[in-house]
Amino acid sequence: DWNSGNVIAEQVALIQAQVGSGKVICGLSGGVDSAVAAALVHKAIGDQLVCVFVDHGLLREDERRQVEEDFVAATGVRLVTVDVREQFLTALEGVSDPETKRKIIGREFIRTFEQAQAELIREAAAEDGDPIRFLVQGTLYPDVVESGGGSGTASIKSHHNVGGLPDDLQFELIEPLRALFKDEVRAIGAELGLPAEIVQRQPFPGPGLGIRIVGSITQDRLDLLRKADAIVRAELTAAGLDREIWQCPVVLLADVRSVGVQGDGRTYGHPIVLRPVSSEDAMTADWTRLPYDLLAKISNRITNEVEGVNRVVLDVTSKPPGTIEWE
Ligand code: XMP
Repeated sequence: DWNSGNVIAEQVALIQAQVGSGKVICGLSGGVDSAVAAALVHKAIGDQLVCVFVDHGLLREDERRQVEEDFVAATGVRLVTVDVREQFLTALEGVSDPETKRKIIGREFIRTFEQAQAELIREAAAEDGDPIRFLVQGTLYPDVVESGGGSGTASIKSHHNVGGLPDDLQFELIEPLRALFKDEVRAIGAELGLPAEIVQRQPFPGPGLGIRIVGSITQDRLDLLRKADAIVRAELTAAGLDREIWQCPVVLLADVRSVGVQGDGRTYGHPIVLRPVSSEDAMTADWTRLPYDLLAKISNRITNEVEGVNRVVLDVTSKPPGTIEWE
C-alpha cells in the first residue's frame, strides 16, 4: 500500500536515471507543489539543481523568508532570488481591472523567470560547456487530468524557448508529482523534512495579493493588506482551524471608504473583507461558519493594528455564485 518513503525512493531513482549528470532548473512559488518537487529532485541529484524564486512584491508576510531561510535550511538547495518588486509596481501602476492585472502579472512573471533562466543557463554553460536542459514542474495528478484547461495551479508555465539559445533547445520536463494527490504531496514533503508552514500551506493564487486589492495596486495598499492577512492567518492557526478551512482570502476594498469613529475622531477608511471557505477542490465552495468570538477577535485586531482600516466585513457567499477570490 501507499507509503511516502517508497514513493520518494522510487522517484529519486527515476530522476537520477532521467537526468544523469545534466543540469536542472526549478521555479519555486513558495507553495507546496514546487517545494516538494524541488526537494525530491535535490535529494536525487544535489547541486545539479538550481532553484529560482521570484519576489514580485505581491507575496504574503514572511513568505520570502520561509523560502530563502527555512526551505534552504531544510534541503540545502541552491537558490537564486530575483527581486522585481519595483518592476511589478511600475507595470501595475493605475491598473484596477482584474483581468488586466492578471495579464500583466503573468507576463512580467514569465519575463522575469525567463531572464533568470537565460542567465543561469549561460553561467552553467560557461562552467563546463553543459547548459541547463531540464525543468522541474510541480504538476499533480489532478492537473494532469484536467490539463488543457491552462489555468492550473502551476505558477510557471514558461517552458518554451529562452532568448539567446538555439531555437530547437527545449527543456525536458521533470514532473515527480504527476501521479500524486495533494495530501500525498504533503505527506512526502513532511517525510522530506520540509517546514510545516510550507507543507501545510493553503492555496494561494499565482497573482498573489495583486488580485486581493479591489482597485489599483500601490505599495501602501500592499503593506496594509499584508498586515491584515497576517493577523487573519495567525488567528485561524491559533484557533486550530487551518485544516477545517480550505483557504481564507483577505481582501482590501481600496476603492471603497466608509465613515468610522476611532478614539476621539472621525475616520474615513477602507473595509477589509474576510472570505473563509470550505471546499474539496475549489470548483465549488461554501462559506465557513467561523465562531463569532474568533471573528470578533480578528475584527478587533485588524481595526486596532492596521492603520487605514476602520471596518471588517464577512463574505457569506458560496461558490457559485461567488468565486473564491474577488478578482
Ligand atoms: P476562484 O477565485 O476561481 O479560485 O474561485 C479557485 C481557486 O484557484 C485559486 N486561484 C489561482 N491559483 N493562479 C493560481 O495558481 C491563479 O491565477 C489563480 N486564481 C485563483 C484560488 O485561490 C482558489 O484556490
